[in-house]
Amino acid sequence: MCGIVGYVGKRNSQEVLIEGLKKLEYRGYDSAGVAVFTQEGLQVKKAKGRLAVLESQLGDAPLLGNIGIGHTRWATHGKPSDVNSHPHTDNSSKFSVVHNGIIENYIALKEELIEKGHHFVSETDTEVISHLIASLYEGDIVKAVQQAVKRMRGAFALGVLTEYEPDKLVAVRLASPLIIGVGEGENFIGSDIPAILEYTRNVYILNDYEMAVLTKESVELMTIEGNFISRELFRVDWDIVTAEKAGFDHFMLKEIYDQPKAYRDTVGSRINDAGTAVELKEIGMTAEQIKQLRNVHIVACGTAYHAGLVGKTVIETLARIPVETDVASEYRYRAPIITPNTLVIVVSQSGETADTLAALREAKRNGARVIAITNVVGSSVAREADDVIVTWAGPEIAVASTKAYTSQLVAFYLLGLHLGQSLGTVEAGEVAEIIAAMKQLPEQVEAILEQSEAIKGVAEQISTHNNLFFIGRGLDYAVALEGSLKLKEISYIHSEAYAAGELKHGTLALIEEGIPVIALATQETLFEKTVSNIKEVTARGAFVIGLANDGDEELAKSVDQVFTIPRTLPLLSPALSVIPLQLLSYYASLARGNDVDKPRNLAKSVTVE
Ligand code: M6R
Repeated sequence: MCGIVGYVGKRNSQEVLIEGLKKLEYRGYDSAGVAVFTQEGLQVKKAKGRLAVLESQLGDAPLLGNIGIGHTRWATHGKPSDVNSHPHTDNSSKFSVVHNGIIENYIALKEELIEKGHHFVSETDTEVISHLIASLYEGDIVKAVQQAVKRMRGAFALGVLTEYEPDKLVAVRLASPLIIGVGEGENFIGSDIPAILEYTRNVYILNDYEMAVLTKESVELMTIEGNFISRELFRVDWDIVTAEKAGFDHFMLKEIYDQPKAYRDTVGSRINDAGTAVELKEIGMTAEQIKQLRNVHIVACGTAYHAGLVGKTVIETLARIPVETDVASEYRYRAPIITPNTLVIVVSQSGETADTLAALREAKRNGARVIAITNVVGSSVAREADDVIVTWAGPEIAVASTKAYTSQLVAFYLLGLHLGQSLGTVEAGEVAEIIAAMKQLPEQVEAILEQSEAIKGVAEQISTHNNLFFIGRGLDYAVALEGSLKLKEISYIHSEAYAAGELKHGTLALIEEGIPVIALATQETLFEKTVSNIKEVTARGAFVIGLANDGDEELAKSVDQVFTIPRTLPLLSPALSVIPLQLLSYYASLARGNDVDKPRNLAKSVTVE
């Protein structure tokens, strides 16, 4: 989703903006632009396409100045084009705005402004903001922005410049992420920390309805009512190198290989020294409050939702509490039964997904306790939840989520054990057994990664197909859904994941000679039944790639090709079985010549509903 960078200081702002926007490329975009205050006034340059297009235009005619705003746009209102790209200006070209989010009442505002004589050149909602601010300006840009945002409905993070006050950069947010970087004699704004990390590690995280006024020497934080806010600086302690490719061809591959570390870091110090109990100090609920819980709702989108499907089984198995899982965009609209005895768990890598955030708010409005599982400290989801389990996966840049998913699984194992310990639904011996098995996961992932060349070979084979299926039962089905999503989003091969026993109720009609079927069979108690379902597809000519546990000789007899994963407890097997599927998607995407890290039409952080 759109990326914002802003700079005021002593450097050539164009360079800071472009470098910052490059760090935000992972969010997904289709056009880019910058506005810089130059000797000739506020100048804008913008172009459809990759940043390289804009960069080459700026190379030919640089915009020289020490204050500027930049933007990568992911089209919502109006197609990707030069004119729809940000920054947008008013008719006098004295005001310039970059925006992430959606202004829901932009049509009414636009009509009102047209009546007053403004004329518009783009199809965007953002252009309305620059005109609105211009129309409200009476010598004070801060006041004009405050008045403008009070008239706007929707979601926004804004960076605003005006030629009338050329030393000031104004930023404001409601429901779209925005951070302020504080340097020495220079200050920054950004949609995400990597955009400014090269220059400073000191940041303020803006909350909803808050704004910041930046000059090169100062940063003032205030509410949109104008009340000054005093806040401690947040010191970013992770390394920029962690966010770079570290020698891998793509972020996705690096992030797949980061998973052993992500497992270790996420478990971290959350188990006691003896390895006999989970200690989730971040969960503020007392044992008594946990005993009052009647049900759990897990709400998330995409891959995070798939982690939630595994979480459902984990919590029901270990804590014996009924769990429902919901796609966040559906949750609010089905009038879910939420009571003060409901625990709502929201899962979000970015912590900024609009649907998930809205579900969280719905849960809180209804009195539920909310736990967030997120990878981003200080994200909106983290700040609004009652308790937060941070997944220590490190920054995830590739649009396709890998290490965030597996770290979310670890968070669910920890949480399931924590709840089970409090409720007495899991025996001490079983807790120790699960903890011991969790500790083995990092080396077991490493063993799977060693099979990557063989997986690449199969990926190249399936990359020539346009349709395929994933099947599995129980937790294997939950992982099949994730494998299918991963393949779709980066290889653009159509695939469907089916509960293996459900195929014969309709979908079997689609099985024809040579169609690839990826069959997961890691769940011992369901093994024979899954093999029967595999026979149903092989009998109809499918090319079956099986996934089994080490030592399961039987599966090899029923499939065309088999991969194995090291043995673990059935409850933990998703943490391993998903790894070959991630590699399969990666190599299939590569074989098809796709942009692996930035698949078409997708954004890393989906901040619109
Ligand atoms: O940041 P979130 O975890 O809330 O994002 C949710 C989904 O948008 C995300 O998981 C998406 O499905 C990924 N691109 C999948 O790889």
